[in-house]
Order: sequence, then C-alpha cells, then structure tokens
Amino acid sequence: MGKHDSDTAQPPAPTPPSLGDSVPPARRSRETVDLLTTRRSTLAKLLDEPGPDESELKSILTVGARVPDHRRLTPWRFVVIRGDARRGLRARLEAIYEQTQRPESHEEREKAFEKLGSIERAPVTICVVSSVRSDSPKARKTPEWEQYLSAGAVCQNLLIAASATGYAAQWVTEWYAYEPLVRRTLGLAEHERVAGFVFMGTATQQPLERTRSELVDVVQFWTDAAGKL
Ligand SMILES: Cc1cc2nc3c(=O)[nH]c(=O)nc-3n(C[C@H](O)[C@H](O)[C@H](O)COP(=O)(O)O)c2cc1C
Repeated sequence: MGKHDSDTAQPPAPTPPSLGDSVPPARRSRETVDLLTTRRSTLAKLLDEPGPDESELKSILTVGARVPDHRRLTPWRFVVIRGDARRGLRARLEAIYEQTQRPESHEEREKAFEKLGSIERAPVTICVVSSVRSDSPKARKTPEWEQYLSAGAVCQNLLIAASATGYAAQWVTEWYAYEPLVRRTLGLAEHERVAGFVFMGTATQQPLERTRSELVDVVQFWTDAAGKL
C-alpha cells in the first residue's frame, strides 16, 4: 500500500487564521462529509511505516488542538512518541507490565506483549493528556466533565486529521493508559490522565466495516409531550 490513499501530491497544509481574523462560519465540503461518513479506524497492530513527516505531524497536531474548549482553558496537551523513543517506551511498558499486571495465563501475557509491539512499529503515536485546570476562577467555574469532553474532541480531531492526511489511525487506551507507573513514565502530573493514545501510520491490511448504531435506536425528536411531570 502506498504512502497516501492516492498518489496525488498533497498541497501544503493551510495556516490557521490569526487572532481576530474573520473566519467563515461554515464551508460546504462534500469531501469532508465523505471522509467522516466512511472513516474507519485501523487496529494499531496493523500500522506500519510510512507515517506523517515533520510538517504533516505539525498540521495534524494543529487540527488536534483546534477543538471546542469552554473558557479557553486548554485542558489537554500532547506527548508525541516517534523515532527512537518508540523502542524505549515499548521496553518501559514491558517492564511495567511485568511489575504491575497479573495475566491469568501465559497466552494472555504473550498477547499483551504482542500488542505492545505496536508502540514500536507504528510510526507516530500521540498521547493526548487530559489536563484538567482548576488554577483560576474561570477554570474552577468549568466542570471537569467539560474539560474531559474537550480532550475527547482532541482525540477525534487527530483521527480525522490523520485520515485526511492519508494515514490510518486508532484511538487506544489499553491497560497502560490507566497504570500510574506509565503515567509517570510519560511525564504526567498527578492530576493528569491519558485521554488516549492515537496511533498513526500506514495500514498493512484494509479494515472491514464494523457494526454501526442505527439512527432509529439513538435519535429521538423531542416533543412537549415527553418528560411531563
Ligand atoms: C476512549 C476510547 C478508548 C479505546 N481504547 C481501545 C483500546 O484500548 N483497544 C482497542 O482495540 N480499541 C479501543 N477503542 C476503540 C477503537 O479506537 C475504535 O473506536 C474502534 O476500533 C472502531 O473505530 P471506528 O469507528 O473509528 O472505525 C477505544 C475507543 C475509545 C473512544
């Protein structure tokens, strides 16, 4: 499979607007709707080289950071894992696994180690760190829930940006998102949490469509008759 979905050369990434610029409130883009309607994650273990180069990564991170954020708190940040650092992190995670996890069988341990191989194989992994703010009156006024939701939006934007740049991706947590020793290894503060590891690269296998929710099961149109006391 080639580096990108198509062989057409990518135009340079657009620059974001400057503060105070007039920004279009909406822009019809059939391509965007097509991408969002068909976007599909690729399992991290199926991601390999090539991955985003320096300028593509910068553009993906820029899109990742352009999310709704109530009261402009920036309650998230990124830790990028790429290049030689991947091997180091894999080794650290393997050691932490041995120290903290209690696999029920040899097979379970093998499987976990196999999964950790993705950290080294995938060209780029972006750890989205949820960093809830409470250090100012406006931060304290903003529910933690909303700050977590903003970090979730960052992860989703990264998936979309990766896909639109021509790379397959997956949002993963696994055991290591929740393990305190891993959080420390990644440099997270006590109050910070991992919203997700977004793996990206080139798919070695094309994913198949998975079951999707039927709109009829998840959409209700509210009427005044609903929820009467
Ligand atoms: C917060 C979060 C954590 C996830 N963690 C994992 C994970 O650890 N392992 C995994 O295989 N999929 C995980 N997933 C699911 C995949 O990222 C993805 O949703 C699924 O493969 C289907 O994705 P698609 O609808 O984008 O195709 C997680 C999803 C979310 C939202």
